[in-house]
Amino acid sequence: MATAADYKLGPNTFPRGWFVVAESKELDKGPKAVRFFGQDLALYRGESGKPVLLDAYCAHMGTHLTASTSAMIVKNGEQIEGDSIRCPYHGWRYNSAGDVDDIPYFDGPCPKSASIRSYPVVDSLGCVMAWFDPDGRHPDYDVPSLPEWDDPQWVPWGLDHLGELPIHSQEILDNMADVRHLGPTHGCPSQYFENEFKDHIYIQRQGGPMQLYETYLYTTTWYTGPGILLSKQVFADTVIYELIANTPVEEGSSQCWHGGVFRGSADVASDEDRAAAEVAHAGALEAFSADFNIWLNKRPALTVMQLKTDGPFRTGRKWYSQFYETPEKAARIQEEVNGFHYTLNMPKPAEMNHDIDEGLPF
Ligand code: FES
Ligand SMILES: [Fe+2]
Repeated sequence: MATAADYKLGPNTFPRGWFVVAESKELDKGPKAVRFFGQDLALYRGESGKPVLLDAYCAHMGTHLTASTSAMIVKNGEQIEGDSIRCPYHGWRYNSAGDVDDIPYFDGPCPKSASIRSYPVVDSLGCVMAWFDPDGRHPDYDVPSLPEWDDPQWVPWGLDHLGELPIHSQEILDNMADVRHLGPTHGCPSQYFENEFKDHIYIQRQGGPMQLYETYLYTTTWYTGPGILLSKQVFADTVIYELIANTPVEEGSSQCWHGGVFRGSADVASDEDRAAAEVAHAGALEAFSADFNIWLNKRPALTVMQLKTDGPFRTGRKWYSQFYETPEKAARIQEEVNGFHYTLNMPKPAEMNHDIDEGLPF
């Protein structure tokens, strides 16, 4: 599989940023073993409701903290205490910062060297999102959020768990600049197109006729960092926000999720709205599946043979490379790419009545 080095992305193997690591409701069933960024990780929700993500292995004898289902302490529902978790083997207790703060059979001070890494984690958009930085730095931007997600007028649809894709996230991010695939792949050719870079945010504005619904589609789509895409889509009377998340698992593979919210017709969404949301969800998933199907069957594009009338793939890749660099180098990349980028022979949104951006968080 293609690596970050193959794409010449920068010194890091995995990108820095906020990433989806689970659907929030998955943690209602108890602790979960997950694997991202080439590492085994332990994910659980503390009694206060706080999600916690730790490196998986207990320092005592290397037990995975959340992979055992048969240990008595797990069966008895006694593994979580407050926001801490006990190892299922000998019961050492790790707090949410990753430090051992109790050993059931030892009165001395808990060894500091038993500490394991803890990652910043929050719930947003129905997802558990974790901050990953290969060097352990703190988050330098906020998780994406949308007021509509929790508004009763809007119908959220549950996440589609699309599994692990044997493709580097770079190829998924390429979609943002890829104006010329919207016709052949999605049956929705752009009549105008624009990309904008704002530090850690990558925006695409476009619109065109939609074969499937025989209507005109306006979209504003943005990545907040390298792993979480939101897209506002307006066609006929329909308004949806789509969510697409990609999180590196191993180098060259990505776990993907898809979800969204649909604007209902009244202050509180009705059954009719929920039925319409299901239809919109199916349509959005079908559209995304067309990309997915291509990604599953393509070879890595380590470089793009970019024509003058293609979108700005190279600039998009430059933007993406900031997450594989030191913060100092990332700041220089942002300075270099920030601003608007246009595609030859494509009108600007302003010329085509693209006015769907009000209230968007950038
Ligand atoms: S291996 Fe974790 S407490 Fe012994
Ligand atoms: Fe696409």
